[in-house]
Parts: sequence; C-alpha cells; structure tokens
Amino acid sequence: MSWHAQQYSIFEAQRTRPVRDLIAAIPTAAVHHAIDLGCGPGNSTEILAQRFPHARISGLDSAADMLHAARERLPQLSFQAGDIGQWQAAQPLEVILANASLQWLPDHDQLYPRLVAQLAAGGTLAVQTPDNLQEPAHRLLRKVAGNGPWAARFAGFSLPPRHDAAFYYRLLRPLCQQVDVWRTTYHHPLAGGIGAVVEWFKGSALGPYLSQLDEPQAEAFLAQYHAELASAYEVLPDGSVLLPFPRLFVIAQR
Ligand SMILES: C[S@@+](CC[C@H](N)C(=O)[O-])C[C@H]1O[C@@H](n2cnc3c(N)ncnc32)[C@H](O)[C@@H]1O
Repeated sequence: MSWHAQQYSIFEAQRTRPVRDLIAAIPTAAVHHAIDLGCGPGNSTEILAQRFPHARISGLDSAADMLHAARERLPQLSFQAGDIGQWQAAQPLEVILANASLQWLPDHDQLYPRLVAQLAAGGTLAVQTPDNLQEPAHRLLRKVAGNGPWAARFAGFSLPPRHDAAFYYRLLRPLCQQVDVWRTTYHHPLAGGIGAVVEWFKGSALGPYLSQLDEPQAEAFLAQYHAELASAYEVLPDGSVLLPFPRLFVIAQR
C-alpha cells in the first residue's frame, strides 16, 4: 500500500494523542539510543524526542512520502528507509517505539521477541496497535469490498491477525522484567460528519483497497462506503462524529 503523509496528517492531533499516552508510560529513565519503527510523518518521533531530549533518536519507515515529511519536520534527527520485519539495531537500544505500525506486520509471536532482543537491559519496547477490526468502520469496509464490481479482486485480501492483551502478556512476560498491557477506546471528535470518517480511513485502512482501483472505481467504492457509514455513525448537533477507536498498548521492559 502507498502512504500519503498529507492525508494521514489531516487528523494528526487525534492520531498523536495515543502516542503521548504510550510514551508517558515508558519506565526507562536513562535513554541514550531510541528508534521509532514506522515513524510515519514524524509525529510520534517528535513526542519521543520531547520525552528524551538527550537521546540519539532515529526513525524507520518503508514509505518514501512519510520519510520525506519526517525529515522535513525533524531535520536534526536521522530517518532511514527500511522494513520493520527485516530491521536489526546497530547497537542495543534503550527504547524501541512502534506506534500504529506493527498491525501491518504478520507473525507477532516472532516479531515482538525479536524486538525485545534488541533492547539493552532495562530498555523498553513501547507499542500501540489499533484494536478496531470489529468496529463498524472496518466491518463496513469489508462489506463494501466484498459486494461491488471489485469483489473478485479483494476475495483473498486479508490483514494480519490482531491479538488480545493476554497474548502479548503471555508472549513477553518470560522475556521481560515487567509487562504492562492496557486497552483504551478514544472517542475522536471529527468535524465534518461522515465525510470526515471517510477522510480518516483514507489515511490508513482504505489504502490497501484504493490502491487496487482506478479512479472511477475508487470514487464508486468511497461513495458506497460513505453510504454504509451513514447508517452506523451518528452526526452530532455540532456536525461532528465521535469516532470510537479502541487501541491496545504494550509496554515491555527487558
Ligand atoms: C499509521 S502510520 C503511524 C505513523 C506514526 N508512527 C504515528 O504514530 O502516527 C503507520 C506507518 O507504518 C509504516 N509501516 C507499515 N508497515 C511497515 C513496515 N513493514 N516497515 C516499515 N514501516 C512500515 C507506514 O509506512 C506508516 O508510515
């Protein structure tokens, strides 16, 4: 899928709120080296740099447009192109942050321990992943994908599986001195009604679908998705929609 920094950043304030909560819970105090995996346009990296102003911080992302935005935003930090699934740290790190990125990768039973192994003793893996596949926005996305003229194209399409809190606790507790897992539902206020919900997901979950369609098909897909969302989300008197968004947080200290 191709990521577009500008589209993603329309809702930057809402998308950055969870990473503030995640980074606030990192227990490691002395941080010399830290990385932001799936740094996007640098919004999460910026919060990491604010929390650890003396650390050497870098970001990694596979999307050229995101990296370009991150470099423009934080020219004093180092950003590299790469795949989280292949990434190896050059030296042990005190913090590995991954906010809203690891849900795009499979095999978490291997990935998370591999990340923990790249921490210095006492270092922290801090991860937030959306836990929203059963929310109306995702259910209706699958419904639209499975019912239009494009249905055959998306027949074998699936996202990596999501796991619950107990999965991560069980996986990481034997490897770490402490594991803190929690789940929060944010209610992101989106001014602009149903259209704003469509815009939100154009910046993330719609990407893999829209990138497979030509422009007229993409417009038809979005129109159907908009109509489905209108039956599931209430537009409030001020014209906004409160988008419920459950997210799972994992803090694992080696
Ligand atoms: C939803 S954005 C999160 C951006 C930012 N971390 C934040 O907190 O808002 C997900 C980012 O993960 C990146 N990403 C997804 N899969 C990746 C992979 N396998 N390797 C590197 N980056 C990846 C995408 O390019 C995108 O920039």
